[in-house]
Formats: sequence, structure tokens, C-alpha cells
Amino acid sequence: MIPKSFIQDLLNRLDIVDVIERYVPLKKAGANYAACCPFHSEKSPSFTVSQSKQFYHCFGCGAHGTAIGFVMEHAGMGFVDAVEELARSIGVPVPREALAPGQVHQKIAPDLYEVMQAATRYYREQLKQSPRAIDYLKRRGLNGEIAARFGIGYAPEAWQNLNGITSSYQDSSLVETGLVIEGEAGKRYDRFRDRIMFPIVNARGQVIGFGGRILDSGEPKYLNSPETVLFEKGHELYGLFQAQKAIRNNQQVVVVEGYMDVVALAQHGVGYAVATLGTATTAYHVQKLLRLADQVVFCFDGDAAGQRAAWRALENSLPHLVDGKRISFLFLPKEHDPDSYIRENGTESFEQLLHESLPLSGYLLRELSAQVDLRTQEGRSNLLEHAKPLLMAITAPTMALLLRKEVAALAGITQLELEALYGVKAMGAAPRRATQKAGRPAASNLRVLLRCLLFKPDLIRELPQEIADEGADSEAIEALSAWLLAQDGEVSSAVLIQSFQGTAHEPLFAAEQAEIMQWGETFDVDAEFQGVLAKLREETRKRKFEALNARIAGKELKALTEQERLLYSQLYKPG
Ligand code: GTP
Ligand code: MN
Repeated sequence: MIPKSFIQDLLNRLDIVDVIERYVPLKKAGANYAACCPFHSEKSPSFTVSQSKQFYHCFGCGAHGTAIGFVMEHAGMGFVDAVEELARSIGVPVPREALAPGQVHQKIAPDLYEVMQAATRYYREQLKQSPRAIDYLKRRGLNGEIAARFGIGYAPEAWQNLNGITSSYQDSSLVETGLVIEGEAGKRYDRFRDRIMFPIVNARGQVIGFGGRILDSGEPKYLNSPETVLFEKGHELYGLFQAQKAIRNNQQVVVVEGYMDVVALAQHGVGYAVATLGTATTAYHVQKLLRLADQVVFCFDGDAAGQRAAWRALENSLPHLVDGKRISFLFLPKEHDPDSYIRENGTESFEQLLHESLPLSGYLLRELSAQVDLRTQEGRSNLLEHAKPLLMAITAPTMALLLRKEVAALAGITQLELEALYGVKAMGAAPRRATQKAGRPAASNLRVLLRCLLFKPDLIRELPQEIADEGADSEAIEALSAWLLAQDGEVSSAVLIQSFQGTAHEPLFAAEQAEIMQWGETFDVDAEFQGVLAKLREETRKRKFEALNARIAGKELKALTEQERLLYSQLYKPG
């Protein structure tokens, strides 16, 4: 556990401009610094760094964060590693907090990685000595070079093969890494026996898990490492470490289902493929891949399971679409998976299929229209019903607009009619979460308030309790106020942003950070803050006054209690 105060201290002592400059050359641009974004490919710089506020934001792909977030993203490190790296760069040691009694220690001991590394070495060594395993891989068309590149190995038949990779087979690290299973009465045995071993590697090249395939037929075909402190399935992609360079060079990534698919594609020169690890494609995967490449192609098997996987991938992609980037779907002939397809038809043919893959919009419209009979009114009404949650989930403005147009056309109504039906706000506005209820202060004023607080967290001292309450709608302001009030002493924007990283409020904060980039250093935030407070007060007054007015409704003041009458006269404002 790294104490929170240390994170604050670290962020206050670092300069984000120095940190980012170690990786990306920055140029002064107005009040900020700019560069071509390292997280997506672009020709003119939209990656912006604010030195005064100590955060970065890319206006192209939406990447954002503090110095810690940058190092995590750019170097593919976890939080703790990024903090350690940054602390080292300014020569301060990272203190550790003692755990309260009963608290579980979730540290990732470096020796767990070493144990995984030792197991990988052991399995690879065993592969060399097993003609049967070598023969299997050869039959599947893999050569030694590719097997080495993916660290493929072999776990022999016996029950305690791994006896010897640690000082003792009783070492707890063997169980913690999921390599060894402890059965009843504490009996231990290897999880993987007589299997081809595919190491699963994180972004830094460390082995965090394994997939093990049976050589002949048998159940289960694949056995995977369980989730451990090292390995979180929904976050990892098989083959990403090996594919990184090819993905950047091609600005394209292909997502497939199986280990063998990734390896076989690489064997045939398609180096930019990755696989999910037996889980659905998560939103986390989508965001990660869209940062790395302009184009993401989901290529699932031609069977029913593949179709379901594709639709899940589509649903999880919608909130993360980025205008100007392309997500598409490749459906192989039913009898094929990418491995068998490329082996039978060759690289050129596979790349041609990638080239012709169905854009996400086309797939969405195809599936929506296939579910209903567009010749009937009921069918068209169903279409509008089914399309609504999908279209409303899209935040990329252009993409959302174009799809609304197309769905409207399919349903035989105008775009405006569809937008009215869905409650879409004025042209061009992204259909963001509808947090604003009737009669509440307009979100835009609350947004400006939030922006001011992000710019100068100390303004919390001047935020009247009443306005904070009015913000009940805007959970973000409430959460922010609560957090700020719980801090002792002044906090910086960067500390605040870092603390809300990964929370439900992060996207909203990120949008306001982008606005702040344009404010510059000399911006009169106090005036802005007082201005928006005045507007919010006026809105509150109006709302209360109108509520009382509605109660009176012709019955004169008698409808009100004594107290309400007093309030009414106070709230009354001529004009
Ligand atoms: P082969 O070509 O038959 O070696 O396999 P594949 O790579 O084509 O995999 P397949 O399409 O059969 O399955 C896709 C992925 O689902 C695999 O890479 C595994 O991650 C996972 N998977 C497949 N079968 C099993 C199984 O029996 N158990 C578990 N836990 N996962 C499996
Ligand atoms: Mn296969």
C-alpha cells in the first residue's frame, strides 16, 4: 500500500512536461504544450499538456490523465509500477503503509513473476524433449521461430513437474500463481499436465498466466490459468505484447477468439492479431485497442457462438467509438476460424477479407433490420425501439448523427422526428447520459461549476451549501464536493484528477479538463465561478418561486402558510 499523501506529494513535485518529454517531444503552443498524440496516429498535434494544471488531454482520441496516468498508459505499467518509476526519476523512495490488522495484502510480489518466468522456461525446455509435442505443433503448421516468439512450451504428463522451479514444491507462490492446485488434505499437483503451453504475457512482457491445450482430443480442450493477482482476464489480450509493433505500423489490429488463431496468423505474416482470453470483448479492451490503432477488426468464427461474440463486441464498443476511427467485423465462412482460413487460403486472401470487413454501422443496421419486418408499421416501430439504446450509447457525435439518419430512413421517419422520439438534444450534441431532470438547474451551469472546481479546487470553500445540494442531479459535483471537503489543506487539480481516475465520474471530468485546456493560465476563474454561482442562485430562486406560484394558481395567497408567504415575498423579483 502506497500512502495517499505520497501520491499527492509526488504529483506536486513532478512536472508533467518533464515526464512526458522523456517519451514524446513537446512544443510550446499558447498556454500549453502540444505534440502528435502517442496514443493514436495523427498528422497534426492534438495531444495537449497543461503545465499549470499538470494534466494532459488529447482532443483527437480523448486520452487524458496526470503524469502517473501517462506513464501507465505509455509504458503499459500498473499504477504501483508507474508511481515507483516516477519516484525513482526524482530520486525519492516510495514509502509503504503498514496494513491494518485483518487487511488483506494484495501486493504483487516480484517473485510471482519470477515463478511464472521459471515455469515458462521449464515448459519450453520440455517441448524440446518431446517429439510428440513438437510433432503436434508441426502438424498445426507452426515453425520453431514462431513457437519461440510466443514462448510456446509443453507440460509433461506427470503430476508434479514443477517440483524444482522453486526452492520447495510447498512454496505458496506456486498456488498463488495458479500453477499448482492444492486439493483436499493439502495434496498438491500441477494444474497443467500433458498440454501445449501458451504463455499469456502482459504489456511489459511478463508472463502472467497460461493457456494449455490438450494434444489429442479430450476435455477440456483448453485449460487456462485462473484469475490471480497477476492475471485479470477482462483486461488482457493474448498476443498484444508480440503484436504491438505490427499494430502501430499497420494502424490496424485484428481481434480473434483463439490462441492458435493468433499464432497461426503470425506464422503467416499477419502480426497484428490478438485474442480475448475466453471472455467477451470488454469495454476496456476496446478502449485499449482504439488507442493503439485507427482500425479494429473483430474476426470471430463463423458459428453461432462467433455471432454472439461479435454482437457483444459491438455493444461494448458503442460508448467508446471515436469519430475518424474504424471498427469493423469480419465473418468467416461457417466452417472456418482464422487459423484454418489462412492455412487454406493464404495471407493475401485473408487480408482481402479484412479489407472488405463490414463496418460497425453496417453490421448494426443489418442486425437491426433482420430482427423485424420493415414492411409493416409494427416492424418499423420495433426497429426504433431496438435501435434506441444502441444509438443513445454512442458518444462520438458524427457517428451518432449518421446512424440516427440511417435508422430514421429505415423506419420511414425524418431525422428530426427520430431525435424528438429519442429525446436527443439540439443538433450535434452527443446524446450523453441524461442526468438532467425537469426543473433542475441546467447541466451547462453545473458543468461550468465543475470546471471551475477542477481548475481551482480551493474554490470549494466558496461553494454555498445550498448550491451543492441543488447539484443532487449532478452526482459528479456532489462526489467532488464531498471529496474536497474531506481533504485537509489545499489540493491541486492533478491530485484531484488522479483521485477520480477510474471512477464513474472520470468521463465527465475528462470533458471538463478538455475545456480547461483552453482557459489558459491567466484566466479569471474567480469571476467565472462567481458568475455561474449567480446564475445557479437565480435558477433556484425562479424554480422555488414558480413552485409556490403554481400552488397559488388563482387561489391567492391563502393557499400558502404564513412561512411560505414570507418566502414568496422574498423570492419575488419584479420583471
Ligand atoms: P484449436 O484451433 O482447436 O486449437 O483452438 P482455437 O484456438 O481455434 O480455439 P477455439 O476457437 O476452440 O476456442 C477459442 C478460445 O476459447 C480458446 O483459445 C480458449 O481461450 C477458449 N477455449 C476453448 N475451449 C476451451 C475449453 O474447453 N475451456 C476453456 N476454459 N476455454 C476454452
Ligand atoms: Mn482453431
